[in-house]
Amino acid sequence: MRLFIDTGSVAEVRELAAWGVLSGATTNPSLLAQEQGNLDEIIRTICELVRGPVSAEVVSDDPEEMVAQGRALAALHEHVVVKVPFGQAGLQATRALDGAGIAVNMTLVFSPSQALLAAEAGARYISCFMGRLDDVSIDSAQVLASIIAALRPSGVTSEVLAASIRHPEHVVTAAKLGCEVATVPGKVLRQMLAHPLTAAGIERFEADWRKRPEFGAWLAALTAGADGVAAAR
Ligand code: E4P
Repeated sequence: MRLFIDTGSVAEVRELAAWGVLSGATTNPSLLAQEQGNLDEIIRTICELVRGPVSAEVVSDDPEEMVAQGRALAALHEHVVVKVPFGQAGLQATRALDGAGIAVNMTLVFSPSQALLAAEAGARYISCFMGRLDDVSIDSAQVLASIIAALRPSGVTSEVLAASIRHPEHVVTAAKLGCEVATVPGKVLRQMLAHPLTAAGIERFEADWRKRPEFGAWLAALTAGADGVAAAR
């Protein structure tokens, strides 16, 4: 399963893209509304940083306007994927955008029947919101499993994207169920790093190594030698 970052913050994408685990990003109107600055620049910079699909959402209930907004968003950068909210207008716009060769992430999908319609309309990604389902006491894992079970037999190429991720367990569940992508907020990505045994293990390795300063000197010399060889190449 590939990991996208769910944010509108260039600073956050810059920080987390450096980890080397991100394949893309998703934004939405609520996330971008928290940002200051030029949106063209924000979206383009995120595209450059993640070097993969970046969802930017249309905000309209009219299919023609959605298509016009989608074309304009897609023209910002080759990595832009147009995010379209689910509904009749959204399906119509998705069909038109897909026909024009523009990738669509159909968002706000909460059921297998909605996912089937999104796939038929040509959505490249189908975003199912785990956290918002769990918030209303609907088991997001069951819904995601049903979506995947409904889509797979017909061989549709749409990718199931787990969104509205609230904690690391959501990411693990999405991966186990076979989602192609999970879009994860920076806070949850940082939580995924942490384990007390990892921290304790690092501390112990460092303490043991400090007991043998000559080994530390050996490693420093080895590194300097390797750096010298690399510089000479
Ligand atoms: C991303 O594609 C979604 O818009 C986002 O994950 C929604 O998350 P939320 O339910 O935490 O707002």
